[in-house]
Amino acid sequence: MSTSTRRLGDPLAAELWDDAERMSTDELRAVQLSRLRWTLRHAYDNVPFYRSSFDAAGVHPDDCRELADIAKFPPTTKADLRDNYPFGMFAVPQDQVRRVHASSGTTGRPTVVGYTARDIENWAGLFARSLRAAGVRAGQRVHNAYGYGLFTGGLGAHYGIEALGATAIPVSGGMTPRQVQLIQDFQPHAILVTPTYMLTIMDEFERQGIDPRTSSLRVGVFGAEPWTEQMRAEIEERMDMHAVDIYGLSEVMGPGVSQECVDTKDGLHIWEDHFLPEVIDPLDGTPLTDGEQGELLFTSLTKEALPIIRYRTRDLTTLRPGTARPSMRRMEKITGRTDDMIILRGVNVFPTQIEEIVLRTAGLSPHFQLVLTTRGRMDAMGVRVEARHGVDPDQRTAAAAALVHAVKETVGVSVTCEIIEPDTLERSVGKLKRLIDQRNR
Ligand code: DLL
Repeated sequence: MSTSTRRLGDPLAAELWDDAERMSTDELRAVQLSRLRWTLRHAYDNVPFYRSSFDAAGVHPDDCRELADIAKFPPTTKADLRDNYPFGMFAVPQDQVRRVHASSGTTGRPTVVGYTARDIENWAGLFARSLRAAGVRAGQRVHNAYGYGLFTGGLGAHYGIEALGATAIPVSGGMTPRQVQLIQDFQPHAILVTPTYMLTIMDEFERQGIDPRTSSLRVGVFGAEPWTEQMRAEIEERMDMHAVDIYGLSEVMGPGVSQECVDTKDGLHIWEDHFLPEVIDPLDGTPLTDGEQGELLFTSLTKEALPIIRYRTRDLTTLRPGTARPSMRRMEKITGRTDDMIILRGVNVFPTQIEEIVLRTAGLSPHFQLVLTTRGRMDAMGVRVEARHGVDPDQRTAAAAALVHAVKETVGVSVTCEIIEPDTLERSVGKLKRLIDQRNR
């Protein structure tokens, strides 16, 4: 599957695993149940929001006798965190909160999250576990291009790198020419960055006349936004490195909730000793079984400052049994978020579906935008995509036709396609905004 020839240390390296990674399923379920009962009690006793929401639903922490009982408790939404802005969801006194982060939120107030000293230690430990699963080892240098600040990416990764015993290079996002220079000078083994910013960095290597395949990087740990198998192939091929997926969200902790193992690259193992996943039907909230696609929910199992119960992530995925870590279930790569879903003449479309097609179409670069407009009474979608360098006008016309055809065949909607010059779309330095909504409302 991998297109990279780079050798990593023995990625299985089971002697480096945390005890929890070795637990049998029965042991893990027992740990989860006792931690779940503690979390429900902690939330109910210390957060007025949870006390009133449990009371209103007629449930009490003592009603949780087995893991499946979690479904009796009401879900928590982003709106609930916003309504309790800034610190209303915290379950510990201010003097125990060592740090806060906030998610930007494109509209309205941000959501604020907090951590005790133990929460920070657990987070660093889980990020270090994620890095090990990605094939990164103590003693290596790690270039961290996730943004530092209120975003959980930069500092979350930073503490994880240090907890692993590796060397953190805290570059943050932006100043792309300098990113390339630092990679050339410091010779890191691994890079942590959003997948779309990795594309920007790869282009910058080429702009400076350096073949990115010659860089010291052996593995990239990519997350914070959806990306596809086609994007993995693009990055692995152009950088000659392994590309693995990391997932997380501020409300549940930050990066390091789940991680793809470099030896299998088959979806992300959820660190279930700290987070209990569920999947529900996003429309009516009915619980779905493993193997069915739906909205992912998480309940934290160890968090002190901000226990979170059945948080509705809006991310769509499917739970699968464990592989490289047998007792920890995997989540498939995220297809998209319920709020990124475009409904075009009754058909649901996710930007990742278009990404797959763009990257499969000869002559097209991975840089594209989706432009939504109103035509008559209908919504219309245009794919605006940069040609690869050196692609002539005839090849561009053919590429546009191939893309329109493939979208119609596989997604089932008609789109238009505009091919533009290379290096013209705005580049991401973190999470990319792909959707340009110009519809009349
Ligand atoms: O993006 C945390 C993070 C930082 C994860 C660095 C990985 C690496 P938020 O800003 O709160 O936190 O955004 C969380 O980003 O609900 C997903 O929609 C999306 N997301 C995060 N990781 C992935 C991923 C960070 N690997 C939201 N694949 C989540 C797809 C992801 N989407």
